[in-house]
Amino acid sequence: MDKILVEGGRALRGEVRISGAKNAVLPILCAALLADGPVTIRNVPRLHDVRTTLRLLGELGAGIDVSDDHVIGIDPTRVNSHVAPYELVKTMRASVLVLGPLLARHGAAEVSLPGGCAIGSRPVDQHIKGMQALGAEVSVDHGFIKASASRLRGGRVVFDMVSVGATENVLMAATLAEGRSVLENAAMEPEIVDLAACLVAMGARIEGAGTGRMVVEGVERLHGGEHSVVPDRIETGTFLVAAAMTGGHVTATHARPDTMDAVLGKLREAGAAIECSDDRITLDMQGRRPRAVNITTAPHPGFPTDMQAQFMALNCIADGVGVINETIFENRFMHVQELLRLGADIRVEGHTAIVRGVDVLSGAPVMATDLRASASLILAGLVAQGQTTIDRIYHLDRGYENIEAKLSALGASIRRVS
Ligand code: UD1
Repeated sequence: MDKILVEGGRALRGEVRISGAKNAVLPILCAALLADGPVTIRNVPRLHDVRTTLRLLGELGAGIDVSDDHVIGIDPTRVNSHVAPYELVKTMRASVLVLGPLLARHGAAEVSLPGGCAIGSRPVDQHIKGMQALGAEVSVDHGFIKASASRLRGGRVVFDMVSVGATENVLMAATLAEGRSVLENAAMEPEIVDLAACLVAMGARIEGAGTGRMVVEGVERLHGGEHSVVPDRIETGTFLVAAAMTGGHVTATHARPDTMDAVLGKLREAGAAIECSDDRITLDMQGRRPRAVNITTAPHPGFPTDMQAQFMALNCIADGVGVINETIFENRFMHVQELLRLGADIRVEGHTAIVRGVDVLSGAPVMATDLRASASLILAGLVAQGQTTIDRIYHLDRGYENIEAKLSALGASIRRVS
């Protein structure tokens, strides 16, 4: 199994090109199932989760063209199955996002229940409730969500809590429903705005994307189209935190600063000088040690839970005490035990972690437990004295394209070994 070796102590400098967003491309690939012609998606990141989604679409019968770099063509006209099997769904929760498209386009969907994952129980009740509000018959049987409807009809969906995945699933389903749908308490993440833009390019009629209330006028059919995926704000944030922790000076290019207010605000609070233009963000730490910051995760535009572990790593070596409140997932402090192995001072009380910055971390073997936890361990390794070895890095490959190559190009001493 591959491992990553990091030798700490180098300030990062230079430019890093940001890839397309994992959390946007996954629903967008699923949205292609809604069309009755070929869909071309550009700025696709090379990630394990993308390959898993393509396997799933292939299993459903879709034609897939990956001949161009970072461009994927999907021909949904050959889809001949509506079953998303356990073997694929269990490896990637986002597989549940084929539910809405299959149901809306083919009148039936059977999707294995995703089950729990390392960061919490993650139920799908809001996805199911949304499909029912659009007139679908839904049952949960033998570990599968089974949904059917001859044609979905528009309806009003009031989500009990803000869910990114449920909003996306119901949005996709509503595009082909008969009549108007209203989604209340919808998630407002930039990835939802991007999904909506792709659906609109395919002929959907959607208003209010990026707000808590979306209105969808259902159409008879969606045609093929083209879309370029929004830059990954979590990947961007991860590199900026790396720059801040190492006292470095890094520019993220092909980025979207306007999707990153909460994270950039916290980096400024930590003492970073930040300048943004349309698609570039430059962070200059001028060799200084960051100041500890307090963080409470919240749905967008609040502070993203997917950046919590990375800011925990920053607080580990910052000046002062930082309090981190995780409000989205109940079990998202798995990285704490590993950071402690590197000499961090962290106390966890329920959903709160109190991090007292230490002068030095010391390299040690650690284990990645989930995607963003893996990133936080690399960040800690970049500032730890000596060598940090990170095991189980397959998590990392799910969500970061070539992270070690990008960090190396910024001057980090990092390599992958088998
Ligand atoms: C997405 C992101 C993930 C991010 C998360 C929160 C993708 C592929 N993944 O995950 O990286 O960490 O948003 O920003 O985009 N919930 C329910 N019932 C439901 C659905 C959700 O109780 O039916 C709960 C969840 O357990 C969690 C909260 O709602 O506590 C938010 O989850 P949700 O926004 O749905 O996360 P995902 O879409 O799975």
